[in-house]
Amino acid sequence: MMKTEPATIGMDYLEQKRRRVDLLLDRYLPSEKLYPQRLHQALRYSVLAGGKRIRPILALMAYESFGGENEETINPAACAIEFVHTYSLIHDDLPCMDDDDLRRGMPTLHRKFDEATAVLAGDALHDLAFQLMAQTGNPRVVSELAEAIGTFGMLGGQMADVEAEGKDISFEQISYIHTHKTGSLIRGSLRIGGILAGISEESLVKLSHYGERVGLAFQIIDDILDVEGDQRKLGKKTGSDCKNKKATYPGTVGMEKARLDADHLIDEAIAISEELPLKDNHFAFIARYIGQRES
Ligand code: IPE
Ligand code: IPE
Ligand code: MG
Ligand code: MG
Ligand code: MG
Repeated sequence: MMKTEPATIGMDYLEQKRRRVDLLLDRYLPSEKLYPQRLHQALRYSVLAGGKRIRPILALMAYESFGGENEETINPAACAIEFVHTYSLIHDDLPCMDDDDLRRGMPTLHRKFDEATAVLAGDALHDLAFQLMAQTGNPRVVSELAEAIGTFGMLGGQMADVEAEGKDISFEQISYIHTHKTGSLIRGSLRIGGILAGISEESLVKLSHYGERVGLAFQIIDDILDVEGDQRKLGKKTGSDCKNKKATYPGTVGMEKARLDADHLIDEAIAISEELPLKDNHFAFIARYIGQRES
């Protein structure tokens, strides 16, 4: 059995985990030399373009914080989560969705390749993700991922997001969109890490509450950055939501309240993390990072 590396704190911790995830993603992706080369090139182009890797890092953090020590179990699950996330970005950027040209500092996949390749690459990442999840040998986490991204999770949120375009929507509707399109996979990433580590049901409930707070805050900040962020730091074009007449959190409650709500959610998440039986509280650090991020 391979043991996980000792944890360091703060940005070092994030950087160390990100590097580990990047290496693993490269290892799990099919080689560009294999047929169909174009599809494999497309997968590698989108996944290895970079990205914060926040979801796999959350899964690793939950796993290790609750005593998980087997890399062969958590590594495939963490990478599966990033594959699913990247598939969601590829499809989200398509002309029929948000019609965006830039992602992770590079042309979006349909721009660099073509729409058909982008649809297929998204599908392929979804398939690869479930193949990796099966490697954990734990059916509960396979189901957790399916639920997090299915019609009662991420896809439900994406459908509501598309339907809300150009409309004035209520606070309940924008809350549904954000907790589902983004919050659900973030919460699921933490739960998957916790479950694989053998977390107690009581701590799992608290972990989910933490995930709900940081998940919603993550998308509120995404909306704020679309208005106020720096395109070079973000690696995607700002103003996309306005261009698409998207329903956004600041658009619904105002910019000032959006910022306050995000801060409040982060404070709540930190308070919840303090109730968890953790060896090191990386959860508080990551919550703060999510609340203050500029990319
Ligand atoms: C972007 O996610 C899409 C949202 C759900 C807001 P990230 O901001 O995590 O994007 P990457 O993975 O770092 O590129
Ligand atoms: C994306 O939300 C959510 C998913 C991909 C599931 P956005 O459409 O706001 O994400 P960005 O701003 O394009 O990254
Ligand atoms: Mg979108
Ligand atoms: Mg988008
Ligand atoms: Mg956005």
